[in-house]
Amino acid sequence: MPNKKPAGLNRSLRLTEAELIKYSSQLIKLSESQKLKSVTNKIINQNILDAVKYLPEKFIDLLFIDPPYNITKKFNRVAFKEMNNDDYATWLDSWLSKLTFLLKENSSIYICGDWKSSSAIFKVGSKYFQVRNRITWEREKGRGAKANWKNCSEDIWFFTNSNEYTFNVNKVKLRRKVLAPYRDEQRNPKDWGQNSSGNFRDSFPSNIWNDISIPFWSMPENTEHPTQKPEKLLAKLILASTNEGDLVFDPFIGSGTTAVVAKKLGRRYVGIELDNYYCSLALKRLELAENDKKIQGYNGDVFWERNTLIEQVKSQRLNSTRGTFQNQRDKRK
Ligand SMILES: C[S@@+](CC[C@H](N)C(=O)[O-])C[C@H]1O[C@@H](n2cnc3c(N)ncnc32)[C@H](O)[C@@H]1O
Repeated sequence: MPNKKPAGLNRSLRLTEAELIKYSSQLIKLSESQKLKSVTNKIINQNILDAVKYLPEKFIDLLFIDPPYNITKKFNRVAFKEMNNDDYATWLDSWLSKLTFLLKENSSIYICGDWKSSSAIFKVGSKYFQVRNRITWEREKGRGAKANWKNCSEDIWFFTNSNEYTFNVNKVKLRRKVLAPYRDEQRNPKDWGQNSSGNFRDSFPSNIWNDISIPFWSMPENTEHPTQKPEKLLAKLILASTNEGDLVFDPFIGSGTTAVVAKKLGRRYVGIELDNYYCSLALKRLELAENDKKIQGYNGDVFWERNTLIEQVKSQRLNSTRGTFQNQRDKRK
């Protein structure tokens, strides 16, 4: 990995040589002689096709998959080469077919892709699972194209293993600013709340996500991984589709986002990643998550729209003041 010195306000997470040696020594590989009694809360530095045969049956509550998309892309020392759609579908099937044995009966499965990879994901995913939905994430950033529409969305296909599955809709509400604050005949707010930071409605989550930015250099969660997913995106999926203590599995975990968010939200995790540097980054992030459970954009048990930091801070202050008053009242009792 290039070790350029970051500019002043750049908060991106990097590894020093010493850290790389330290974290690399903690990584594990599965094999016949080294089958782990428990793989829980581990990052496994291995090819998914080699590791899968040593994993236990029916241990996954949530399977999150962010595979290399069908584009030519370099992931540190490993390069993925674009192929035709049928070959990409065959490649997806080569490992997805093996992961089905690891899933609990009532598990959920999310698979990410861009518009080009999306049809192969649908085709292969629907071979094994029930298709529930397709979430479209508006990434905001994207490279402008002269003879095409700028590509700035991604799909996240939502499947379940059966018709019984967890979906905690009340844990993933989106707090939206109310632009037309209707009141009922008694002048009470209709379906919205009011406090010193403004008027808000906690709305049901839809399958269009436009409240999440790609991690960038001034965010503490940002790393050198070229296709790192935002913690806020994983938080929505994990809160909706698991309960505390459930196990989340990610076979292409990259810089560790899935494991870090699972840990912050009190879930268990297992992650697999081919590249040693990314695995080490994941371990560093997991260590930092011991003392820092913050997830940018998720505050006070709701998700917030982009550019609402001031409102979030105000609301947090209001809640902690309420908490202090409540504590004082409780003490007086
Ligand atoms: C799209 S990235 C995942 C990024 C991740 N979601 C994050 O937030 O950092 C895909 C990752 O899969 C890894 N990878 C590619 N082929 C693999 C394989 N056969 N087994 C395990 N990991 C693999 C790549 O090194 C890359 O880091």
